[in-house]
Amino acid sequence: MNKIKSIDLFAGVGGLRIGLEKALKKLGFKHDCVFYSEIDKNCRKTYEKNFPKTFLIEDIKSVRKNNIKSIIPDHNILLAGFPCQPFSQAGVSVRNSLERKHGFQDKDQGNLFFNILDILNKKRPETFLLENVQNLVTYNNGKVIKKILKLLRKNYYVPDPQILDARDFGLAQRRRRVYIVGFLNKSLNNFVYPERIKKELRVKDFLEHKVDDNYTISNKLWSGHINRKKRNKKNGKGFGFKLTHPLDSCTNTISSRYYKDGSECLISQGLNKNPRKLTPRECFRLQGFPENFKLSNSKVEAYKQAGNSVPVKVIEKICINIVEYLLSGDSRLKKIS
Ligand SMILES: C[S@@+](CC[C@H](N)C(=O)[O-])C[C@H]1O[C@@H](n2cnc3c(N)ncnc32)[C@H](O)[C@@H]1O
Repeated sequence: MNKIKSIDLFAGVGGLRIGLEKALKKLGFKHDCVFYSEIDKNCRKTYEKNFPKTFLIEDIKSVRKNNIKSIIPDHNILLAGFPCQPFSQAGVSVRNSLERKHGFQDKDQGNLFFNILDILNKKRPETFLLENVQNLVTYNNGKVIKKILKLLRKNYYVPDPQILDARDFGLAQRRRRVYIVGFLNKSLNNFVYPERIKKELRVKDFLEHKVDDNYTISNKLWSGHINRKKRNKKNGKGFGFKLTHPLDSCTNTISSRYYKDGSECLISQGLNKNPRKLTPRECFRLQGFPENFKLSNSKVEAYKQAGNSVPVKVIEKICINIVEYLLSGDSRLKKIS
């Protein structure tokens, strides 16, 4: 059996890694994640609880063009869910209100794509998978995605990016994200993204059976939500909050701000009780994480980490297609052990 080596950039708590691992297991490959990078100490704590002993560089910016070769181990697959805030609708409006730059002009987070690009160009892994918010495609009238693709396509075959929704892949959460894959072997050029799975979904299948009353929201918070919704409706603004019934087919996207007030998904508990927030475990279930995934001891951090992560089932399906596609061509994958 061959061993596939990966690196996990902007790793968060390892959602991309879990998806890849599941795919490789199904296809009969061993997997070794040889390097990860994550700047947030709380994410690293959770990552290391689940994946001990992976070589780490905290800030990817500390890896420079001239030391990439010596720092980053050889690998077959590069994974990167690079920060989305500089491109997301919410991130852009926050930056606008603070008169801060967004997109590539955000000096802190917006240009991290170029760190990925430098690593790809120096290390030349056979394939990569990048993930971001769907707004990346429309941001600045599509100029940013055009530039990203142009740069990636210098050395890689990169099919047009695809927006996929978690709810089309067996997860009861609406979560549309853009995925970009690339292949060093340019002689093949017919990769296809996975087809949606036809499956009836119910939110209740992702809920815990017994949930502490602490998760039921207070009268004050509940009336705050209702009043804000009324105000928003009057002013023709946003949705305010979303009440989700356990029999609904999906929740709204769970974001990293869910811990604040749960507005994007409050679970209805009938007419005689206030709704409740999802538990951190339920948020991770809606992202397709396995039950044995160890969560942060801090509830706030666990919510943030789930909201920042990726729908594992979508990643798994894309990775299956990536590996099968590589195997169909003349790939070094077969030789690495
Ligand atoms: C969208 S999240 C990725 C989540 C990840 N794919 C997962 O499944 O959990 C982006 C991550 O990039 C990290 N990050 C931001 N700037 C970084 C940097 N300069 N170096 C390394 N990690 C960074 C953030 O802390 C955040 O966890």
